[in-house]
Amino acid sequence: MKKSIFKRLFITYGITIILGFGILALVLMKLFSQYFIDSKKDLLLEYGQKITQEIAIGLYAGRLDRQTLNEDLRILDKFLDARIWIIDREGTIFGVSGSKEEKYLGQKVDAGALGILYRGRNIIETGNFGGKFKEPVLTVGYPIFYNDEFEGGVLVHASMPGIQKSIRDIYSITVLAITFSGLLAYSILYFQIKRISVPLSEISKAAKIISGGEFQKRLKIKTGDEIEELAKSFNDMAESLEKIEENRRNFIANISHDLRSPMTSIKGFVGGIMDGTIPPEMQGHYLNIVMEECQRLIKMTNELLELNNIQQGKVEVNKTNFELNEMLRRKLINFEKDITKKNIDVMLKFYDDSTIVNADKSMMERIVTNLLDNAVKFTEEEGYISLRTREEKNKVIVEITNTSTNMDDNKLKNMWERFHKGDESRGIYKSGFGLGLSIVKEMIILQGEEIWADRLDGAIKFSFTIDKSK
Ligand SMILES: Nc1ncnc2c1ncn2[C@@H]1O[C@H](COP(=O)(O)OP(=O)(O)OP(=O)(O)O)[C@@H](O)[C@H]1O
Ligand SMILES: [Mg+2]
Repeated sequence: MKKSIFKRLFITYGITIILGFGILALVLMKLFSQYFIDSKKDLLLEYGQKITQEIAIGLYAGRLDRQTLNEDLRILDKFLDARIWIIDREGTIFGVSGSKEEKYLGQKVDAGALGILYRGRNIIETGNFGGKFKEPVLTVGYPIFYNDEFEGGVLVHASMPGIQKSIRDIYSITVLAITFSGLLAYSILYFQIKRISVPLSEISKAAKIISGGEFQKRLKIKTGDEIEELAKSFNDMAESLEKIEENRRNFIANISHDLRSPMTSIKGFVGGIMDGTIPPEMQGHYLNIVMEECQRLIKMTNELLELNNIQQGKVEVNKTNFELNEMLRRKLINFEKDITKKNIDVMLKFYDDSTIVNADKSMMERIVTNLLDNAVKFTEEEGYISLRTREEKNKVIVEITNTSTNMDDNKLKNMWERFHKGDESRGIYKSGFGLGLSIVKEMIILQGEEIWADRLDGAIKFSFTIDKSK
């Protein structure tokens, strides 16, 4: 059977609480009852002494008559909740504290008890005082000496059941208080544990849902503690999973779409040649188109493989020192044919006659080629392209600018994505698959450099950094 955190914590903490509170209750009750009996004894002893001195001795000195003595004893009886007897030197009870006690008047106390008093000592005992009481009592006795003569004593009896009842009262109050606080502790514990276990099981449920492929599942946990943090990380994870899944879907959709149109035209032209719909004199023309389409497909597959290799970390960066201006010039010349055809104005400006940089040369050539290819491809006829370098601290910044009228911020942001092409309805985009800039970006990142694009008035400017040679 699966153990739940809730059950486990609840049982462990529960046992701890019960044990803790139980031991506390026992100790408290023991202490209370001990304290109660001790203080009762002290009280009786203290008053025994007072009664002896104030009342009994007053009696022998002739200051107090028996009537007043009995009155005083009755008041003390109420106050102490104890029976008080006064005995003479023979041990005969001659003063009592209540009408119920009057039956003892004239009776003699146990000789042993009298002996203790006679020797000047106090009596402290529990029992039924030599058979005088039916129930157990706590007795405190005090001798009376007058003019150094033993005159008798004072006996104070507190009923044990009375004491025990008080102790029991204390017990039940203690037990009640402890049960109540125990229950309170337990219910606080219940909610605290729920606060942990409920979100945890929510997280685990959500994890199951996500592993089942439903990436849009999110958690709403607001506990303000580590669990909320966990839930937040969980949501972040779910979000990246969702993003990866979306990218994967888009990737497949894009690739299928991009494969279909060249395949369809190849199939159409080859089919037309085979069944004779295309006359022999036109075959050369169409075969050329077929060849071009095949080359485009090969280019796309290679670029995809290349991107994959970069992302899997299979491509190594091999930095060397080389002269940048010369490289830029040569790459630009490669596009001379298209530039002349579109009558594009070219501006070239280097901040220094010779700029030695430190980078992976073939990657840099590739980056420049892709950027210039775009610039030439997307610049309208009679437009301009500018290629310049500038210096910033220990970096060289290469800027490639070209006329571009239909750029917006959204396009500027998205063009770095794989398969992102501008307006596809326009013929000039036909030659590309939208992979050029993704390759550029990956290669820049791989070398630890930066690239960004800015929208200027009617133009677009790509800038990237290169390390100067050290
Ligand atoms: N210099 C530029 N001027 C105007 N638009 C540009 C420029 N460079 C890129 N773009 C826009 O960004 C998109 C993505 O560029 P990218 O180089 O990745 O793809 P592509 O050139 O269309 O195809 P490929 O490079 O794979 O042949 C382009 O389709 C275009 O819309
Ligand atoms: Mg391109």
